[in-house]
Amino acid sequence: MSETTRRVAIYPGSFDPITNGHEDIVRRGLRFVDRIIVAVAHRATQAKHGLFTVEERVQMIREVFADEPRVEVKEFGGLLVEFARSQGAPLIIRGLRAVSDFEYEFQMALMNRQLWPEVETLFLAPDVQYSFLSASLVREIASLGGDVSDLVAPPVLARLNEKYASVRRGT
Ligand code: PNS
Repeated sequence: MSETTRRVAIYPGSFDPITNGHEDIVRRGLRFVDRIIVAVAHRATQAKHGLFTVEERVQMIREVFADEPRVEVKEFGGLLVEFARSQGAPLIIRGLRAVSDFEYEFQMALMNRQLWPEVETLFLAPDVQYSFLSASLVREIASLGGDVSDLVAPPVLARLNEKYASVRRGT
C-alpha cells in the first residue's frame, strides 16, 4: 500500500442532512489522514425516504466544508467497498455515538472486510455534546418548528427552513 493511498479515508453515510456531529467526526478524522472523501449514499436502505435529494445533501456538505480543501464530497451507489476501492481508499471512518450504535457498526465493518479484506474501519467518537444527535432527530424537530440552530451548520439550517416552509405551503 503506498503512502498516498493510506492517507485517504472515506466517510460514508446518508447525511440527510449533515449535522454538527458528522462535521465533528470529519474534522477529527483530518488529524489522522490527509484527505477525506465524504461519500453520500444514493440510498442507504430501500426503506429510507430522504428529505433532501442526494444533490442537495452533497451541496450542503460542500458548503459546510468550504473552508477545508482536504474534504471532497462525492455520491455513490452500490457497495461501499467498491466505491472505496475505486477511490484507492482502504480506510472507512464511522462515528460511534453510543453503545447502541455498536452492533450495527461492528457488523458493517466486518462485512465490509469480508467483501474487501484490505479495508479497515476507523471508529471515532464525537464530542460528547453531539452524542445524542442524529439526522433523523434534526429532521423531526425542524419539521415541528423546533430550533435546530445548535445542531446543524448555517447552510443546512437555511435549507431545512426552506424545505419545511415549502412543505407547509404544500409546494
Ligand atoms: O448514515 P447511515 O445511513 O448510517 O449510512 C449507512 C451507509 C450508507 C454507510 C451504509 O448503508 C452503506 O455502506 N451503504 C452502501 C451499500 C453497502 O455497501 N452495503 C453493505 C454494507 S456492509
